[in-house]
Amino acid sequence: MKPPVLQVRGLHKAYGKIVVAEAVGFELAAGECLGVIGPNGAGKSSLFNLLTGTAEPDAGSIRLGGRELVGLPVHRRARLGMARAFQIPQPFPHLSVFDNVRAAATFGAGLGKAQAAEAAGAALERTGLSRAADKPAGTLTLLDRKRLELAKGIASAPKLLLLDEVAGGLTEREVQQMVALVRELKKAYAVIWIEHIAHALKAVADRVMVLHFGRKLLEERPQAVLESAVVREIYMGMPTDADAAAA
Ligand SMILES: Nc1ncnc2c1ncn2[C@@H]1O[C@H](COP(=O)(O)OP(=O)(O)O)[C@@H](O)[C@H]1O
Ligand SMILES: [Mg+2]
Repeated sequence: MKPPVLQVRGLHKAYGKIVVAEAVGFELAAGECLGVIGPNGAGKSSLFNLLTGTAEPDAGSIRLGGRELVGLPVHRRARLGMARAFQIPQPFPHLSVFDNVRAAATFGAGLGKAQAAEAAGAALERTGLSRAADKPAGTLTLLDRKRLELAKGIASAPKLLLLDEVAGGLTEREVQQMVALVRELKKAYAVIWIEHIAHALKAVADRVMVLHFGRKLLEERPQAVLESAVVREIYMGMPTDADAAAA
C-alpha cells in the first residue's frame, strides 16, 4: 500500500454545544478518493475547515505528507499542498478565467509570475477550460464555474484536493461530466469529495465515510455504505439521491 498523504487522528471540535467533530480519524493515499456523506449539519464542511485551517480543532492531529498541520495558518497549509474547491464558486467575476486561476497559483502556491502562468495554463487544460480562458469568469455557466473552482485548486499543485459538493446543482448530464473530471484528477491527487449525489460518489470514490453529528459512523466501499442500514436510517425523511439529481 502507498504511504498515506493525509493522516487524521482523534479530531475534536465543538462550537458550544454543537459538536462538529468527535474522534474523527482516517487516512488517504495519493490516487485515492474518499467520499464524505451525512445529513445537513453533520460536520462535513466543518471537517474541511479543520483541514484547511479556517477552524482549529480542540484536539487531534492532521498530517499532510507526514507534516503536522494543526496550528499552522491557512496559507501555510495551502503551500504544503492543501487545496479546496468551495461549494459556492466565487470567482472574481470581471477577471478572465485565466487570471482567476493565475491568481490562485500566485497566492495559493506562492509561485512567481512565469511559473504561475504556466501552472494556470496546465490547470485550465486539465479541467477542460482552455476554451474559456479569456472570458470574464462571471459569464461562465455553473458547470464551468465548478470547473474553475477545480482549476484554481490544482493550479497550486496540491497533494490533497478537497471538493465540497462540486456536483450540486448540476443537471444529470453535467454531473456525468464532473464525475469524469474528478476521476481524472484523482489519478494525480488524493481527493476528498463531499457530495450528496450517491451515484456520483459511487463512480469515483474508493471509500465513503459517513458523518453524523460530527461522528464517523462508517467508512467502507461506496456500495456497502449506500446499502447500509445505518445510512438508510439517518437519511430517513432526508432528500434522496433522485431528489438531489433532479434539483
Ligand atoms: N463557525 C461556527 N460557529 C458555530 N457553529 C458552526 C460553525 N460552523 C459550523 N457550525 C455548525 O456546525 C454544524 C455543522 O456544520 P457544517 O459542518 O457546515 O455541516 P455540513 O455537514 O452540512 O457541511 C451546523 O450545526 C453548523 O450550524
Ligand atoms: Mg456543507
